Amino acid sequence: MEVGLLFTGVALPLEAAQNHLEKDISAKQLKHNSTSWSKVTCINGGDGWSGSRHSTERGRAMELVVRKAVAALVVSVVVTLVRVEAQLVVGYYEQNGCPMAEEIVKKVLTAAVARDQSIAASLLRLHFHDCFVQGCDGSVLLDPQNGFPATEKQAVPNFSLRGYNLVDAIKQALEQACPETVSCADILAIAARDAVSLSGGGTWPVETGRRDGVISLRTEAENLLPPTNENSEVLTQRFLDVGLTQDEMITLSGAHTIGRAHCVSFSQRLYNFSPEFDTDPNLDAAYAGKLKQACPRNFDPRTVVPLDPVTPSQFDNRYYSNLVNNMGLMISDQTLHSDMLTQFSSESNAEDENMWQFKFANAMVRMGAINVKAEGEIRKNCRLRN
Ligand code: HEM
Repeated sequence: MEVGLLFTGVALPLEAAQNHLEKDISAKQLKHNSTSWSKVTCINGGDGWSGSRHSTERGRAMELVVRKAVAALVVSVVVTLVRVEAQLVVGYYEQNGCPMAEEIVKKVLTAAVARDQSIAASLLRLHFHDCFVQGCDGSVLLDPQNGFPATEKQAVPNFSLRGYNLVDAIKQALEQACPETVSCADILAIAARDAVSLSGGGTWPVETGRRDGVISLRTEAENLLPPTNENSEVLTQRFLDVGLTQDEMITLSGAHTIGRAHCVSFSQRLYNFSPEFDTDPNLDAAYAGKLKQACPRNFDPRTVVPLDPVTPSQFDNRYYSNLVNNMGLMISDQTLHSDMLTQFSSESNAEDENMWQFKFANAMVRMGAINVKAEGEIRKNCRLRN
C-alpha cells in the first residue's frame, strides 16, 4: 500500500525526467554519474554533451550542471524505488547463506553458452516471461502437476521457451553448495544479466532476494504476455499493466538483438498479409525474399531464423538500425519504428548504443522487480512446488 502510493507519487516526475534523459543526456556523460555499468563506458573521455561546442557561455554551463544533477537524481530515485517496492538488494546471498551464488550461476551458464551460444537468448527470455506473469517468482518454471490447472509453460506464447534443463543444472549446482537457499526466481534474474554480458552486452548489479511462487496458470500467461501481431499502443499497455513505461517497452524490446524466432511468429507478414498486399509493405523486399526462402508457405514448424539478421548473436543496438531499414522481424518489432508514438525513442536507440545499453540495464532492474513476493518459498526443484 505504502509502496503503491510512493510509486504514484513519483510517476509523473519520473516520466518527465526520463524524457529529459532521452533528449538531452549522452550516455557517456551518464556513465560518470553511475557506478558499474561495464559496457556503458565513456569511450573517448570527452565531455559527452551534444552541442558542447556552443557551451562557452556561463548560463549554458550552469544549465548542463543542472541537467547532470537531474540525471544522477533520476537514476538513484529509480533504483531506490525498485528496492522499496521489491525489498530486493544487490548481493543478497552474500549476507544470506550463499556468498558464491552469483559465481555459481555464471560458471554453469558460461559453460553452457560455450557449448551453445544460442542458449543465452533463451535464458534472457525466460526471465521476461517469468516477470510478466505473477511477477518475478519462478512461476514460468513450474511443470504441470496432477490436481493443478495447466501451468504457464503450457501457454501458447511459452511453447517456444527453452533453457529449462539449464536452469535445472544451475539449481543443482546451487543446491550442492547451499541447499534450499537460492530461489529459482533469482536464478532467472542472475542468469538473464549474465546472458546479456556473455553475448557482448553490458552488465549491472543484479538485485536478489526473490521468493518462489506457487501459482502458475496457463490462462494468465496467455492474457498477460504481449502479443506479436499488435501495434505499439497495445504493447505499451501490456507494459504499463506491470508498471513499466512505454520507453522501457521500447528499450527492452532491444533484447531481440539476439536469439531467434520460429516461422509461425512472423509468417503472416510474408503471405496473405492483407487484401491489398500479399507481403507486409513495412518489410524490406530483399529481406522478405530471404525470409520466404527460409520459411516457404508450407514451412517446417521447427525452422528458426535470427531476430537480428545482421549481428545475430551480438548484444548490440543493431536491432534498432534494422527497424529503420524495415528489417524488423515481427510486427511487434517493426511497429516500434513505423508507429509515430514510438519512432523517436526507437531511432534514438539506433543512434546511441551507449545510451541504449545504459537504459537497457536500468529497465532490466525495473522489470526484475515486478510484483516480487514477500511471501513464498525457496523451491528445492525449480519445476515443482515444495
Ligand atoms: C515487446 C513485446 C515482445 C513481444 C511481442 C515478444 C515476442 C517474441 C517472440 C514471438 C519471440 C520468438 C518466439 C519464437 O518464435 O520462437 C521472441 C523471442 C525472444 N524474445 Fe521477445 N517479445 C517481446 C519482448 C521481449 C523482451 C522485453 C525481452 C527481454 C527483455 C525479450 C526477449 C526475447 C529473446 C531473447 C528472444 C529469443 C529467444 C530464443 O532465441 O530462444 N522479448 N519474443
